[in-house]
Amino acid sequence: MNPRGKRVLERFDLLDRIGGGGQGELYRGRDIETGCQVAVKLQRARLFEAADSYQDLGNTFEVEADMTQRLTGIRGVPKVIASGSVGFGDERRCIVLQFIEGAVLYDAMLKRRPLRVPTVASIIGQLCEILQQVHERQLVHRDIKPENTILDPSGRLWLIDMGLALTQGEKTDRGDGTPGYLPPDEYDGCPGGVSPLSDIFALGCMTLEMTVMRLPYAGMEERPAPECPVLPPERLRGVPSKIRSLALSMVDRLPENRPQSVSEVLEHLRPLLPTPGSRPPAKPLCPDPTEYYRVPRHDQ
Ligand SMILES: Nc1ncnc2c1ncn2[C@@H]1O[C@H](COP(=O)(O)OP(=O)(O)O)[C@@H](O)[C@H]1O
Ligand SMILES: [Mg+2]
Repeated sequence: MNPRGKRVLERFDLLDRIGGGGQGELYRGRDIETGCQVAVKLQRARLFEAADSYQDLGNTFEVEADMTQRLTGIRGVPKVIASGSVGFGDERRCIVLQFIEGAVLYDAMLKRRPLRVPTVASIIGQLCEILQQVHERQLVHRDIKPENTILDPSGRLWLIDMGLALTQGEKTDRGDGTPGYLPPDEYDGCPGGVSPLSDIFALGCMTLEMTVMRLPYAGMEERPAPECPVLPPERLRGVPSKIRSLALSMVDRLPENRPQSVSEVLEHLRPLLPTPGSRPPAKPLCPDPTEYYRVPRHDQ
């Protein structure tokens, strides 16, 4: 059954499909109580799997709703409006979220790469500000990447998709996440427990991806082999010198050699961030994430 046009949880009308990965489909919807737009993340329809594995998948939606709820009040994380099950044939779990207007950072970035330092610093800086609060609440996102970041029309960043988030210190045999952004310790199931250092590694990967258009080590191909250099020499030289040593330390194989918190990353970035009242950078991204620092707003 096509969910488009249906009402879920007696309150949200599904309008158009705006995305979908392996396990879920995203719909833009409308809250009939408030008239506001919402984003509805709906468990995909059951295919060939046994009923109990489909239900296990549904349970991961419940965990994701719970994780996102734990982040309520953080500016830069969409609010959970409702969650529950809908009976389209099989029971499908769904999460209803605040709708974030804007562009997925991945799409915006592809049109403008390589990005200049003020833009890169503004993106990583904003993500650090959001992650500071996520980490303070003892969670680790574990899937930081441009596809999970929305750039709104005012240049603010939003972090979405808490599907893999775990509590700090938790042990996991789930070496999951997105290959290319995963630190070697995550491939080993984080023997020391899940830590914010995984998110810091992924932010370092994003920095390289935005500047020299390459993820470190073997990229998305396979786990980083011990002999694999962080980048081929010509790409390494292309990382802007102002940001090079920070980016390389963030993607260090050894967690103890990375900056130990996102606040530390932010401190290194601070001299590179645009100052309030400064002019837009050359070759801005659209929307422009430097605006967040150049044009501070009262509600920040
Ligand atoms: N709150 C939201 N507001 C607007 N669009 C959203 C929202 N959440 C997700 N999306 C859109 O749906 C896509 C997939 O969402 P995501 O939560 O990352 O799902 P998946 O778990 O399948 O990766 C995103 O890339 C984005 O385009
Ligand atoms: Mg995602």
